[in-house]
Order: sequence, then C-alpha cells, then structure tokens
Amino acid sequence: MSGRLSPIDTAKFVAAKRACDFVEDGMRVGLGTGSTAAWLVRCLGEMIREDGLRITGVPTSTRTAELARQVGIKVVSLDEAKWLDVTIDGADEFDDELNLIKGGGGALLQEKIVATASDRMVVIADKSKQVQTLGAFPLPVEVVPFGWQTTKALVEETLAALDVLGDSGTLRMNGDSAFVTDEGNYILDLHLNRIGNARQLALVINQIPGIVENGLFIDICDVVVIGHGDGRVEVKDVNTGVTQQDKIDFVDTENLFSDLGE
Ligand code: A5P
Repeated sequence: MSGRLSPIDTAKFVAAKRACDFVEDGMRVGLGTGSTAAWLVRCLGEMIREDGLRITGVPTSTRTAELARQVGIKVVSLDEAKWLDVTIDGADEFDDELNLIKGGGGALLQEKIVATASDRMVVIADKSKQVQTLGAFPLPVEVVPFGWQTTKALVEETLAALDVLGDSGTLRMNGDSAFVTDEGNYILDLHLNRIGNARQLALVINQIPGIVENGLFIDICDVVVIGHGDGRVEVKDVNTGVTQQDKIDFVDTENLFSDLGE
C-alpha cells in the first residue's frame, strides 16, 4: 500500500481502480468530475499506456477533459459518441437505493446528461458518502444567471411546502464572484438537512422557471463501488441486489502517482 496516500485518497483510489473492471476494450466511457473521478481517469490512462486498452472518453467538465487528454484518453463530445456503454463518476452522497446528490464540483448538468445517456452508471465513492437519507450535503441546483435572485426566492418558497428540514439557498461563490458552470450558469446550494422525498423534490424543483437542473440523480445509478482506507472495496449492484467484497493491493512505485501534486 502506498505510504504517500492518506486513507481518504486510498479509499477513492481503490474505488476508482476497481471500477475499471467495468471498462472493456472499445467502450465509449463517460468520465466523471471530482477528485475520485480524477483517480479513475488516471487509472484508465495507465491501462491505455500499459495494457493497450482502447476507449473513447466523454468528459463531464473541462477539468476532466484536460486531465483525460493529459493521460492519453481519446476525448470526444457526447454528440460524437451519441450513446455510452458506461459512465463512471463520483458522488457527494448516495443512499441504499443508489439515489445520489451530485454537483459539489459544479458539473452536475453535464454529469446528469452523460450518465443518462449511458447503458450503465457506476458511482465511485469513499465510505463517507454513504447516507441513510440524502440531504446533509447541500443540494446543488444549476440556475440561469438572469433573474437568479427571483428564482432563488421561488425555490425557497417551494421548499417550504416540501418534505425537507431546511429551505434556504446560497449562491455558490468563487472568491468574490459567483461560481460559473461550464454552461455559463450559477449554482444555488440548497441547505435541506434531510430530504424526505427525493424523487418528488427532483421533479418539483425542475418545474421552476430559471432552474436548469438539480443535483438529485434518481434511478440513474446502477452500481456503487465503495472504497475504504485499508484498500477494501464493496461493489453494490442495485439491479441484482448483489454486493461483492474485494481488496485492492497496490504499491507506491506505480507510475500512476507520478503526477500527484494536488
Ligand atoms: C462534481 O460536480 C460532483 O458531482 C462530484 O462527482 C462530487 O462532488 C464528488 O467529488 P469528489 O470525488 O471530489 O468527492
């Protein structure tokens, strides 16, 4: 096991490494965004270099596109790929039914489009992302900049009538300015604490004019690979109900870590 990786990074890495088993030669693969997905992209890059794996990648953000190109993955747009065999991405929270909160990295819109256009979505996450009920992590919602304050007020009014334990939203910032997504929109983070009915919330929020998309992924994820700090992984398939246990062993001499500096 690498002495250079913290337990949390080890957990993210082993989840990503195990998820590579879902990728086969010739596949069109959706590449997620975030620190766990970055491990996946590095692992796939290594498989391309070392094993001759041939895949086409559709990134879910400019950040991921940049990293994917750096590690040697052939990058195409979703319109070029049209449909994907598998998307592998991180999550901010997942529950027992594999419903998710995503968007902590601000890429929820492309992530949802890409995951929905895939035969299978595999989530990779460390154990801390597993929750009984979604909502402790603020729910990201992408809004168009035009009239965003009015949209925010409408969202808060709507939330007051729903099964949640909070109804305030905050505009995500990037220093002194609003955070701007790859699509040129803003993000509202909704502080809900507990989401009683995620399916209903996801539908209702998207009815408000000005809302582009919300970070609830309902019935989209098929498999979650949960990584632990000691190298163990659990692979839970929501369609079959089967959970597998595994252990990933790796050494710190792997090329994979040569670009570690984040
Ligand atoms: C990006 O917009 C998010 O949906 C990420 O998938 C999520 O925030 C997980 O990121 P980490 O893997 O960095 O925790």
